[in-house]
Amino acid sequence: MDAFPIGVFDSGYGGLTVLKELVKSLPEYDFLYLGDNARTPYGTRSFKVVYSYTLQAVKYLFSMNCPLIIIACNTASSKALRTIQQTDLPKIAPDGRVLGVIRPSVEKVAEITKTGHVGILGTPGTVISESYPLELRKWAGEKFKTAVQEACPLWVPLVENNEIDSAGAEFFVKKNIQNILQKDRKLDTLILGCTHYPLLIKLIKKYVPANINIVEQGAIVAEKLTDYLKRHPEIDQKISKNSHIRFQTTESAESFNEKAAFFIGKEISAENIHLG
Ligand code: DGL
Repeated sequence: MDAFPIGVFDSGYGGLTVLKELVKSLPEYDFLYLGDNARTPYGTRSFKVVYSYTLQAVKYLFSMNCPLIIIACNTASSKALRTIQQTDLPKIAPDGRVLGVIRPSVEKVAEITKTGHVGILGTPGTVISESYPLELRKWAGEKFKTAVQEACPLWVPLVENNEIDSAGAEFFVKKNIQNILQKDRKLDTLILGCTHYPLLIKLIKKYVPANINIVEQGAIVAEKLTDYLKRHPEIDQKISKNSHIRFQTTESAESFNEKAAFFIGKEISAENIHLG
């Protein structure tokens, strides 16, 4: 049976927080998850490197018959998505689609913020790219007033190394959250602008006051994708729907299976592939 799955790509495990929600919303769809665990993290790498790694992943997922790819990584969405959509896609897969995680999050902010003061927690790469402030200005409408950002360079390595309940994780989560809260006292919405961060949600909630909305991307991306597929039946009909999920990683499949099971909440069996 031929599969034409939705491709879900991340630098490592973070995209699993998005995949989990996609599967909940679109249970009959097929998915192919690709984690570039061998080269994670992307957050501290240059534009050129993140673009080239992301393009390799996108080409690979198209070669695996994905009609639609979700870049479930903010760093790659910030640094590579636009160029891939505008320059590469017409050449490599003119009928394919590649979507990211920033625009759906920004649209959600427009729905929930009251003060228009928004905070973004992200990797150094996402923060330096200024993608969130730019996209908020474009898509969050009149309600949006101002954005402050905080780079959290240690959060991804803490998650990748399964240190989410450690004293080290608590130290850095507390520090970065206190920093961003001090940057703007009127914040009412805080975007977790990295798909790894929901895995630290227990600690995050401990330090973010209850009156501030925390935007977690998984459910939002799932909601917006469901809507997108309704509006684009020509793409929807190309995707196979046998409830099959396949996992691939550029690192050892054994260690991926072990950690991914923890992140996604069930046993999985990944395959190792090579990119580049
Ligand atoms: N999950 C990626 C993101 O959303 C992780 C980044 C990394 O590899 O540093 O930005």
